Amino acid sequence: MVDSPAGFPFQGHGEKPGVDRFTLSEIPCIADSVALESEHVWYSVTWIIRPRIAMERGSASKLTQRTPASSPIQLTGPSGSPTISRRSGLDAAMSNLHPDQYETGQDDTGQDDTGQDEAGPRNAHPKPQGTCFMSLTSDVRAMLPDLDGYAYFQTSGFSPKLNPVVDEVVHWLKFQSRGPALPFVSRRIEELKQDIRGRVAATVNATPEEIVMTENTTIGINIVANGIDWKPGDNVLLTNHEHPGNRLTWYNLTGRYDVELRFAPMYNDLGRTLEEMDRLIDGRTRLVSVSHVSRRTGLRLPGRAVCDLAHGKDTPVLFDGAQSFGAIPIDVRALDCDFYSFCGHKYTMAPQGTGGLFIRRDRIDWLKPSWIGSHSQKTFDQEGNMDLHDEARRFEFATRSVPDQAGFGKALDIWEGLGWEAIFAGIESYTDRMKAALLEVPGLVLETPASYGDSSGIVTFHVPGLEAGPLSESLEQHEKVLVSPLEFAAESTRVSTHVFNSDEDLERLTTGIRRIQREGLDA
Ligand SMILES: Cc1ncc(COP(=O)(O)O)c(C=O)c1O
Repeated sequence: MVDSPAGFPFQGHGEKPGVDRFTLSEIPCIADSVALESEHVWYSVTWIIRPRIAMERGSASKLTQRTPASSPIQLTGPSGSPTISRRSGLDAAMSNLHPDQYETGQDDTGQDDTGQDEAGPRNAHPKPQGTCFMSLTSDVRAMLPDLDGYAYFQTSGFSPKLNPVVDEVVHWLKFQSRGPALPFVSRRIEELKQDIRGRVAATVNATPEEIVMTENTTIGINIVANGIDWKPGDNVLLTNHEHPGNRLTWYNLTGRYDVELRFAPMYNDLGRTLEEMDRLIDGRTRLVSVSHVSRRTGLRLPGRAVCDLAHGKDTPVLFDGAQSFGAIPIDVRALDCDFYSFCGHKYTMAPQGTGGLFIRRDRIDWLKPSWIGSHSQKTFDQEGNMDLHDEARRFEFATRSVPDQAGFGKALDIWEGLGWEAIFAGIESYTDRMKAALLEVPGLVLETPASYGDSSGIVTFHVPGLEAGPLSESLEQHEKVLVSPLEFAAESTRVSTHVFNSDEDLERLTTGIRRIQREGLDA
């Protein structure tokens, strides 16, 4: 049985075989990842309770949030004595119990007793198999398919999807398919959409009113690019590391308006990069549109410094967050950016076709919608009049895939449940180990800065004389290691890391590179 303070949603739930009583009077601290140590309690409290508390308080699944150390929930063991231990981030283990198991009207067989007009949370996920505290890596891996035996270093391209995320998509697809126009279905789907918007907003410390739900990063960039009232002679500043999504959009624009594109060179010495930006921004720069994290080397721009620089010249800033969202903390308020576009399908391991765009409140009216349609409006008439929503959702229109968005929301819940700080620390620690292991390969050159603070979960390297395309093919065929050759540099290979990557994956990568060095590509 679980006792909880009045008002918490899990009161009355939580009876599990072998679990004795514990009392909730202190929120588990994310930083220290509180876990219960009791032979009777074999699941992680954080996983089950924390997301519920965050939701109940209507707050804060922010990537940046730190629960105060003096948190008000205390866990006591069977004897009534405290059994909390504080373990550092990665050591804290999480079970793969589905948090919703403790709140639904479903029993352990997965039967739904919530009534046919509800698509509530579900109970479709495996219980822990008796291991007390698994590592973060094996916990996340337990939610993944077997990856066909691959060492998967392609999260920066497309991540594999967590099983509970896939289940969530299927669940909502089935629910909606009962009849999208059925009143209880459409009502529930609408609630779900707004709920997900709230979760996405909290993840970057925005308000729901400032979030456009999109299908990918590039749509967000296009909304901004095509929403500015361009004047001949204006210019926009990018960097030389941008993805086609933050490049072709602008190439297209310069073909339509007399707008100049400027490119700031990215240096591992970020101070130098900022100097170049400062030099290139002038009175006609209407926007700085740059990747927060470079997809090429993982270089992490000092976001706040970029905004301060640009704002000092009255220029708004759009961050392309495709490689940062879910990999590093993002707080749009602390960054003080005007726009932030991101996708779900990389580091948050959400379905393809999910994403969001943050538009700061005061920029919503500043941006002119180029595309709108049904659902953008508050009112309209047959004579050509319309009144758009005040919120950023005015840029959303027509029919969208809500089941995919539900998968996005579920992915955020899972990371929130595991603890964002543990995830960020896990990516950092693994990336550091990756860099160290690669640097032991004779002749290998690391292109990514050695300091994690200047980079992220991307490690780019080259081995002089070895072409990246054949190298990656050989690694794939011999070691079943998936990496990505970069198209703009013949020898550069990108490895992207996540908490599900294991030490064995890393070992296979370096073994493969050494094999190629020793025996050649054709061996
Ligand atoms: C930095 C960057 N921007 C944009 C994109 C395009 O992302 P999306 O498919 O979400 O538009 C990518 C994809 O790899 C990327 O790395």
